[in-house]
Amino acid sequence: MTHSASQPLPDHLWRPMTQHQVLRGAVPNTMVSAKGCFITDQNGNRFLDAIAGLWCVNVGYGRTEIADVARQQMAELNYLAPIMSSGPVIDLAEKLQQLLGFESHVYFSASGSEANETAFKIARQYHLQAGNGGERRLKIISRYRAYHGNTMGAMAATGQAERKMGYEPGPAGFIHVMPPYPYRGHPKLTAEEHGEECAHLLEETIIHEGAETVAAFIMEPLISGGGVLVPPDNYIPRVREICDRHGVLLIFDEVVSGFGRLGKMFGYEHWKTEADIFTFAKGLASGYIPVAATAVKERIFEKFYGDPAEMQHFRQINTYGGHPVASAVALKAIQIVEDEKLADNASKVGGYMLRQLQEALADHPYAGEIRGKGMIMGIELVEDRETKVPLADGQVMGIVGDCVRNGVILGRNSNTIPGRCNVLLVAPPLILTEQEADQIVETVTAAMGRALQK
Ligand SMILES: Cc1ncc(COP(=O)(O)O)c(C=O)c1O
Repeated sequence: MTHSASQPLPDHLWRPMTQHQVLRGAVPNTMVSAKGCFITDQNGNRFLDAIAGLWCVNVGYGRTEIADVARQQMAELNYLAPIMSSGPVIDLAEKLQQLLGFESHVYFSASGSEANETAFKIARQYHLQAGNGGERRLKIISRYRAYHGNTMGAMAATGQAERKMGYEPGPAGFIHVMPPYPYRGHPKLTAEEHGEECAHLLEETIIHEGAETVAAFIMEPLISGGGVLVPPDNYIPRVREICDRHGVLLIFDEVVSGFGRLGKMFGYEHWKTEADIFTFAKGLASGYIPVAATAVKERIFEKFYGDPAEMQHFRQINTYGGHPVASAVALKAIQIVEDEKLADNASKVGGYMLRQLQEALADHPYAGEIRGKGMIMGIELVEDRETKVPLADGQVMGIVGDCVRNGVILGRNSNTIPGRCNVLLVAPPLILTEQEADQIVETVTAAMGRALQK
């Protein structure tokens, strides 16, 4: 059935993260098209998408050159069982290893959750086969506030209590530690000291769990959906040292931070520290098609060699992993990020927007902290800047709704930490111009101003 403004569709869609009682009797808005940073609804209203879908449409909407690639690949070879290999998937693996800059092998799947599940299984099997007594290395350590996905393992690694309520118990062996969170760190510590303390507590956790039982530590270089937590510069290099000291694999979840979002091709480049395993999704194909990847350093891949009867190979297959169309689309999206220097634009325009937001909201009593890196920003809202009591849910939602009504879609860290869903999330497409950044800043500032009048 085609859609028309005068004739609302029957609505049997179960929306994610949505309390449908609120929608009863309402006609939900339907979006019909998008171009650049803007989405248009069925009534012709345009919205600046300041969250790039789910921080994934890095190259912006409506790129017909990507559609052309998809069309051509579908006509030529629309699907191939992943046990065989097509040109695009080989080329994509090659491209990723080239961008990463070291010898690696890449396993493909279709979502960030799957990429992380894959990483956990690889880590466990690696230790089993590494020949250093790693049979007991099963545990995965991750961080509070981080999001790693919605499947059972990825959800278990996720450090957001509200995303798990009612769905637990999850699989055993998932442990959490606090990430650096300078805004709410101990007031007597500098940011660097706080970073040192968080790294130290990770090491203590590994020791207390028994290092010989820990397979891997997974972290986003910068916690995104959990509220945009930017780590102090010393933290990630210290984490690397600690993982090495205890034989723990380090996994970087680059599902959000990959492909230019933080102002470099990959987020970890800011901290000049490499992981052993990397996971990608979202920006990999700029949200044009579902595709995800788990890349491992060669020294890990090598432990999967062996006689077939020894079962040393990775015994997983994903129907949509290594999809020729998804691979061709991802290659094109990456090419656009490179050709148009979108990581540089994310750094430049993102930096500009962060400064503008900080300036515009400098005296606003609800603006606790405005932080970010590249084209990702969080505005932590509080009742009072002294006490840092989080602004009530209803008020935070009110500000988000006000922005949407005024043409700017942004997010917040909803259903994450009880009582701490108070961070507005801004992460537009990386093609954003300064003029569009100004529109976001003006809309957010005006909405925050109106919130004070209520
Ligand atoms: C950092 C991070 N990792 C993993 C995921 C899971 O990705 P997906 O929704 O594609 O399963 C997300 C999704 O938002 C994410 O933000």
